[in-house]
Formats: sequence, C-alpha cells, structure tokens
Amino acid sequence: MFKEDLLKGKRILVTGGGSGLGKEMSRYFLKYGAEVLICGRRVGVLEETAKELMDEQGGSVKCYGLDIRGPQDVDNVINEIFEEAPLDGLVNNAAGNFISRTEDLSHRGFDAIASIVFHGTFYVTHAVGKRWLELGRPGNIISILATWVWTGSAFTVPSAMSKSGIHSMTQSLATEWGKTGVRINAIAPGPFPTEGAWARLSPNQDPDEAKSDSSGAYSQNPMGRVGEMEELGNLATFLMSDGCNYLNGQTIAIDGAEYLTGGTFYRQLASLKDEDWDALRDSIKSTNEKDKAKRSV
Ligand code: HXC
Repeated sequence: MFKEDLLKGKRILVTGGGSGLGKEMSRYFLKYGAEVLICGRRVGVLEETAKELMDEQGGSVKCYGLDIRGPQDVDNVINEIFEEAPLDGLVNNAAGNFISRTEDLSHRGFDAIASIVFHGTFYVTHAVGKRWLELGRPGNIISILATWVWTGSAFTVPSAMSKSGIHSMTQSLATEWGKTGVRINAIAPGPFPTEGAWARLSPNQDPDEAKSDSSGAYSQNPMGRVGEMEELGNLATFLMSDGCNYLNGQTIAIDGAEYLTGGTFYRQLASLKDEDWDALRDSIKSTNEKDKAKRSV
C-alpha cells in the first residue's frame, strides 16, 4: 500500500513492542524501512520478537528491558537510546488492563493499571519529548488508546480513566509543542484480538475464535468482524510517515464503527453473577502469574 522505503531513516521506539499490537505495528514499521526499538518487561519475549521480525522483514530491531512505571528507569533507557542516536518516532503502546467490577478493585488493582497507562505513558512521552525539544529536532508520537476515551467503559474503569488522560495529553501537547515540529496523535483500536488483551478482557473467548466469529460477539460490529493487524499497521505507518504533518492532536478510531453503536463491555458483562466474576478473576490472575514468571525487570 505504501512505497517500500516510506519510513527509511526513521528510528522508532515501540513500548510494549514484544507482543500484541506493539509487535504488529513494529512489523509494519520494519517492513517500510524504519529501524525499530522495542521495550518491555519481558526481555525473553522481546528478543524472540526481534528475531522473528528481523528474519521476516530484514532490518534492525533492538530490545530494551524496561518497566515504564519507573520514571528513573525510563529516563535512563531513553538517555541510552538518544546517546546512540536520536529517535524520530515513539509509539506509546504498553498498557495493562483487566475486567473487574469496580467495587471489587483494591487500590493496588487500580494503581497496577493507572501506573502503566497514565503515569508510564507520560514518563516515556516526557523523556523523549524533552530531548527532541532540547535538540531542536522534529518527532512523532502515537499513543494507543481505546474508543472508551469517548464513551467511558463499565468494568474497565481504571483503563478508561487512564486512557482518557492520555487522550487529553495528546490534545494538550499537540498545541503546546505545535511550533516545535513534534506532533502527537493517537489511535483508538476496536477489537483486534491478541493473546494478552483477550486473556484479561474476554477470558472466555479464544482470540483465534474471535477472528472467525461473525455470528457471535462480533455480530454487534457494523462490519461483522474484528480488525485485521494489517489495517492497524497501515494506519500507524501512515501516521508515522511525513506526508501528513498537519494532522496533529487527533485520536483516530479504527473499529469498524463499533463505538458509534454504543458498544462497550456493558451489555456483555452487566448480567454476570458473583460466581461468574469469581471465575473470571481467577482466570485473569492465573494469566498474570504466568506472565510474571517470564519477566526479568
Ligand atoms: C481484580 C486484580 C485482577 C483481577 C490483578 N488484580 N488482576 N483485581 N481482578 N482480574 C489486582 C491484584 O489483586 C493486585 O491487587 C493488583 O491488581 C496488582 O496485581 P499484580 O499481578 O501484582 O500486578 P502487576 O504484576 O503489576 O501486573 C499488572 C497487571 C497485569 C495490569 C495487573 O494484568 C499486566 O501485567 N498486564 C500487562 C498486559 C495487559 O494487561 N494486556 C492487556 C492490555 S489491553 P492486591 O490488592 O490483591 O495486591 C488494553 C486495552 C485494550 O490495554 C482495549 C481493547 C478494546
């Protein structure tokens, strides 16, 4: 869809780039000639992804172990990256989420999500953005949000609150940094099934089943299907390229128009009983424990 070298010469950092949507966007940046840097908490997962993407697309993918919840760790890693060579693009993709009745959340449960999505995204944006300003270099930021920045979302209140904050950061920084050549936009993906998100948001459904499910849950999507990674990869590539620099401060939904139907988790989850919620929590926590076992930072 684009010229092969559309992103040639660009150095792009994708947070949470080892898996899920971050890995898929990295694949397309690499395909269009960018040098890709990925960071995340699970170094083993990052390294496997880097190898897979380089074997498939060629080019260079570098890995950095980083938990974006630590501001000093973020600053150290961004400093190390800029000392090698300045970045041209940043994708704020790292996130945390799980469905839960809000009354069942502990403070730590709220903080687990807000500290990644709200605080961590700001730390990375700040560390990268201030270096671009100091160097007088242009830069391009994309944050991965969700359509619940416009609708709110029952049963994922910490994520809805945090992502809405990043939506506001996108609008605010686009105006504050407009003259500097640093621009900032966001993508609000609808259903793009990935292992990590599905285990925490739709634990009763296999992400592969969701892809072929046109008669079940996704019959509520006006297009009758979930999104394809190539569609997301193309949008991220377009936003990262230089042809649309006047596009600034926008959050763009890519969801087959699902949010316009008023579709959030509410309809699926409002009728669940106490025992259903207990079972869902156990299933999500067992996924979290398995992931934790793979972490090294
Ligand atoms: C209630 C829960 C819970 C659950 C965890 N907690 N899961 N509470 N229901 N299902 C509580 C724990 O009990 C604990 O509180 C607190 O949260 C912290 O738990 P930890 O496991 O110690 O947290 P941590 O290791 O920091 O893990 C963070 C995480 C985890 C967010 C909880 O899920 C994670 O690492 N996620 C990363 C990947 C991810 O979430 N991907 C999905 C992104 S989807 P107590 O009080 O018991 O100590 C997304 C939006 C997509 O972002 C939008 C699609 C439309």
